[in-house]
Amino acid sequence: MCGIIGYIGQKKATPILIQGLRHLEYRGYDSAGLAVREDGKIKCVKEVGRIDNLANKLKQSDLEGTIGIAHTRWATHGGVTQKNTHPHFSCDKKIHLVHNGIIENYKEIKNSLPGHKFVSETDSEVLAHLIEKEYKNNGNLRIAVEKALSQVRGTYGIAVIAEDEPQKIITARLGSPIVIGIGENEYFIASDTTPILPYTKKIVFLDDGEIAEITKDNIQIFNIKDEEIKKPIEKIQWDNKSTGKQGFAHYMLKEIYDQPSVFEDAIRGRIKLEEGTAILGGINMDNYQMRHIDRVIFIACGTAFHAGLVGKYIFEKLVNIPTEANIASEYRYSNPTIGENTLVFAVSQSGETIDTLAAIREAKQKGAFVRGIINVVGSTIARETDGGTYIHAGPELAVASTKAYTNMIAVMILYALQFGRLRKLTVIQGQEIIKALQNIPAQMETILKQSDKIKNISEKYKNFKNFFFLGRGLNYPVALEGSLKLKEITYIHSEAYPGGEMKHGPISLISENFPIISPITKNDLYEKMKSNLEEAKARKSPILAIATEADESIKDLADDIIYVPQTLNILEPLLNTIPLQLFAYHMAVTLGRDVDKPRNLAKSVTVE
Ligand code: M6R
Repeated sequence: MCGIIGYIGQKKATPILIQGLRHLEYRGYDSAGLAVREDGKIKCVKEVGRIDNLANKLKQSDLEGTIGIAHTRWATHGGVTQKNTHPHFSCDKKIHLVHNGIIENYKEIKNSLPGHKFVSETDSEVLAHLIEKEYKNNGNLRIAVEKALSQVRGTYGIAVIAEDEPQKIITARLGSPIVIGIGENEYFIASDTTPILPYTKKIVFLDDGEIAEITKDNIQIFNIKDEEIKKPIEKIQWDNKSTGKQGFAHYMLKEIYDQPSVFEDAIRGRIKLEEGTAILGGINMDNYQMRHIDRVIFIACGTAFHAGLVGKYIFEKLVNIPTEANIASEYRYSNPTIGENTLVFAVSQSGETIDTLAAIREAKQKGAFVRGIINVVGSTIARETDGGTYIHAGPELAVASTKAYTNMIAVMILYALQFGRLRKLTVIQGQEIIKALQNIPAQMETILKQSDKIKNISEKYKNFKNFFFLGRGLNYPVALEGSLKLKEITYIHSEAYPGGEMKHGPISLISENFPIISPITKNDLYEKMKSNLEEAKARKSPILAIATEADESIKDLADDIIYVPQTLNILEPLLNTIPLQLFAYHMAVTLGRDVDKPRNLAKSVTVE
């Protein structure tokens, strides 16, 4: 969703801010703007649409200033207009700010500021005016920001500059991330590390309630009680290379192709072949505690939830513990029953999804062990869980999640090995799984080599308006994920069902205009799934099957087939999902969609 980048130092701020905004594009946005201090005044430029529009507009005003703030806006309060675009400013235009999050009591605040001139429909603008009022009272920008924030209900990550305190940026957070990058006589402020990493790997993460006062040579951080505190400087490992497209047409395609190598990163150093187990130290539990866990819950949204569903099957099979996967936005309001031996895994690529965060806070409050399966290092969920594991997928910038999904499953399998070996899983069974896991990267490569073939298939299917994705057992979450990928980037209607459920209603939709895409690999449910496809075939539905290599009999049923290598049943989602990612990708390209930034979607969903 919205993104923030700020700079204070000796270099020209504008190119750094524009570059930073480009790095934030992946989060989703519909307008962008910046404010730079120049000749004693703050100059503000905004534009709706792409960053390029803003960059073109800036060509007419060569801003030389070395302090500035910028923002990508994803509209919530008020339409996509220039006036609603950040930065927002006070009546006298001496204070400018950018804001992520939601000010819930903005109407009350607005009413409490008679005489102020509001120009936008946003909740954020009231903050600029509230700070203006407080600044007039005490003449200290940081104190004014603190006083203003203390009157706010809601969430915020903000960066503020003021004409009368020229060499300073004030930044603060509550429920919406702010990270500060430390360079040589320069600082970067952002809503995540992505726009900062090209300049520095040294990062300070603000926690909720903290506020920082930053000059080009110094940073001071204060807690909620206004006491100055020292925060650790963390070193982020992601290299700049992993944030580029590397010659691929889109981030999504690059990230699909990243899967074999990042999968290796996810399992490297974490498996013990001899003992048939995995060691994930981040679980922060001793063997006794692990043996006594009697319920596991995966909590997540979207693609991460689909990975959680895979995790449920795997845990029940290998660990024999009752396991659930829950959608976070429902779980948070469900008044869940949590026992003292319940283990909750928060699964999230961004580590910032507000629903997942709220759900784990609820689980924690009720006494669960809460651990994270997270990609973004230092993210809010990673910091709020009492341990867990990074999935090491590297930066995922396309809105459609791909490599994070496979790496989430990789980590779930490792956890299942670790817990399973403390229970009934034998060393031989553990070793068999590890050996199969080690084959996965090469098997993924063989699927990626079929990209051109999948592209041709997508040409054939591009004019259909509706799709069903059908799968059984572990291929059901695969079907859900394939369907989500297709709808989010092509805007084509699709639904996913367990194959056996079709007869209970959805089959009435089937016709020659309603294709079925089905992962139907050689596992225990193969014959059952085949019968379900026969029913569809009898009603003339075109069928695209994801089948196991050398499966000849599927040819009698399917119009098109994408073959995947054979693996253990529990590992099938790691392979079977990839052709569906590629299918959605090629369909979207063929239809001329904006693959990496599909309409209405944001990469990191930080509002409810
Ligand atoms: O960052 P998270 O993994 O918590 O995000 C969860 C979902 O918002 C995300 O997976 C979303 O469904 C993706 N756009 C799917 O491709």
